[in-house]
Amino acid sequence: MCGIFAYLNFNVSRERRYILEVLFNGLRRLEYRGYDSAGISIDSCNCSGSDVNRQIVTPPLVFRQEGNIESLVKSVYHDVDATDLNLEESFSIHAGIAHTRWATHGEPAPRNSHPQTSDEGNEFVVVHNGVVTNYEVGWAFLTISLFLLPNINASNAHNYTNAIFKSLNLINNYTYIGTRNYNGDFSFSVISSFMFLLTKELAEEASIGSSFNDTKFLSSNGQPKELFLSSDANALVEHTKKVLVIEDGEVVHLKDGGVSILKFDQAKGNRGRTLSRPASVERALSILEMEVEQINKGKYEHYMQKEIHEQPESLTTTMRGRLIRGGSCKAKTVLLGGLKDHLKTIRRSRRIVFIGCGTSYNAALASRPILEELSGIPVTMEIASDLLDRQGPIYREDTAVFVSQSGETADTLNALEYALENGALCVGITNTVGSAIARNTHCGVHINAGAEIGVASTKAYTSQIVVMAMLALAIGGDSISSQERREAVIDGLFDLPSKVKQVLKLDQEMKYLAKLLMAEQSLLVFGRGYNYATALEGALKVKEVALMHSEGILAGEMKHGPLALVDESLPIFVIATRDACFSKQQSVIQQLHARKGRLIVMCTKGDAASVCVGGSCRVIEVPQAVDCLQTVINTVPLQLLAYHLTVLRGHNVDQPRNLAKSVTTQ
Ligand code: F6R
Repeated sequence: MCGIFAYLNFNVSRERRYILEVLFNGLRRLEYRGYDSAGISIDSCNCSGSDVNRQIVTPPLVFRQEGNIESLVKSVYHDVDATDLNLEESFSIHAGIAHTRWATHGEPAPRNSHPQTSDEGNEFVVVHNGVVTNYEVGWAFLTISLFLLPNINASNAHNYTNAIFKSLNLINNYTYIGTRNYNGDFSFSVISSFMFLLTKELAEEASIGSSFNDTKFLSSNGQPKELFLSSDANALVEHTKKVLVIEDGEVVHLKDGGVSILKFDQAKGNRGRTLSRPASVERALSILEMEVEQINKGKYEHYMQKEIHEQPESLTTTMRGRLIRGGSCKAKTVLLGGLKDHLKTIRRSRRIVFIGCGTSYNAALASRPILEELSGIPVTMEIASDLLDRQGPIYREDTAVFVSQSGETADTLNALEYALENGALCVGITNTVGSAIARNTHCGVHINAGAEIGVASTKAYTSQIVVMAMLALAIGGDSISSQERREAVIDGLFDLPSKVKQVLKLDQEMKYLAKLLMAEQSLLVFGRGYNYATALEGALKVKEVALMHSEGILAGEMKHGPLALVDESLPIFVIATRDACFSKQQSVIQQLHARKGRLIVMCTKGDAASVCVGGSCRVIEVPQAVDCLQTVINTVPLQLLAYHLTVLRGHNVDQPRNLAKSVTTQ
């Protein structure tokens, strides 16, 4: 949700064209985080490398454009031509910042886009990520800062840093006056004659569940002659794998090729939280495990398509080193290193609460039955925002499991803070190493599904289910009574990637089905048991990318309302693969036939004749898996259907209207 990228070179000659392209490419990598509008700011002057203490001679140039990154690129090159700026001109020191926006407050328009500037002269330029929900106060802060900061002697880092602290203190105190609704959290990069990146849980009162929303990375390319800053590691990996992860409440000061991190001490006094003088922080570089190929489309037309087809590999990676079968004692078991010190506490919990949003919530729902079965502990489900709205009960004896691909979703993060305050043991399941949820939970499991660029989650979803099945196995431990069942699930996990490979062969069949459905207004998806979540997730995919109304319905609820919708024209997708609910689904199909329902039935291979009794229907046959993992198999054709519907209906597959990849605002 909004992306920030920045670039700084020092004592290495770079042409303006190169600098622009670095910024544009950075934004392209971040575009999935927001694509309503974009902007960049670059130096307009050329200062020689020896003049490291330079003042701003001429203010930076700012370009902002509504629409996607390519619209910005076009407009910048047009404007550069128009102003006769020399693209071949070399800079031995140069700072540039870039931003791609997902609009929250204010429509997508150049005036609401970033970088925002201090005045007509652009003396001070800022890009900002996240939402300042107390934006009236926030705006006052910003205005003050923007006017205050340029007046500080920019060559003196200490003064400069202090000025920033002063500004942050301002908003801190203002926020103290406010109530919960006045909270805001944000980060920004700052450029004048050198650059800062700030991340801070601004305006957050300790008792309130608002938290900073984004992991920031800064990477150095060897000896830091070139530095790249990004709100997402995706944008860095083509430059370097050596990154410095910046945490909440830190200011990073970059100057003369040096990087220093200063951390605020957020003391809580009787006037609320104040920021005392910062302390220097020493931190080792981390190494990104991502490969450049992971963030390219390869032979595919869209990221979503690539990520659907990657699932046999992503599932394998998720399980790698965690499943053990064979060996001298022929034991089949699961090892989740991130949980090993906490399993005893989890087993003693009074209940397990799954907390997440959207697709991540659906993944948890899909995993609930196997967790209940193997752990014997009651499992409840919470949509993060709803838990917070209700201030629902969370106890010390609870284990709260936070499921999030990004690890940065604001609602889930706020729920995490709430659960921590209430003393629950907090477990994180995320796809982003170093994310806020990964950092702030007591323990957890990484999904390891690899980078997911398509806004609609596909491979992260199926890997989440696999992680939660492994979680159920780990909590189930060595109970003799469930040993056979556990071994069957472990065998099922081993077989899963090859079964997903088989089900992906339905691609053309799902494309054909998409052709039949492309002009429809609505699609219902019926499922139950393990496949209630499949129905919700399939419907969510169709809705969010194909922009077609679709609803996942618990088949057991059919007679209590949804049956009224059934007629000869409304397409209904019924999931009726083999598991304990199969005969109930057969009966649902018959009842739908009796109302002349227009049915598409997903069944286990070889079951076509037995599911389509009492009327005609289109059948999609899928390979059979162990019941708790069948949902993974069944989800894939629905992902393919959503993908093909989107292409056929002419919508943007990877960047669905109004959505963004990580939802870092409440
Ligand atoms: C839909 C989708 C969203 C996310 C939701 C939570 O395809 O991806 O529903 O699942 O916004 O995001 P995470 O999982 O990052 O917490």
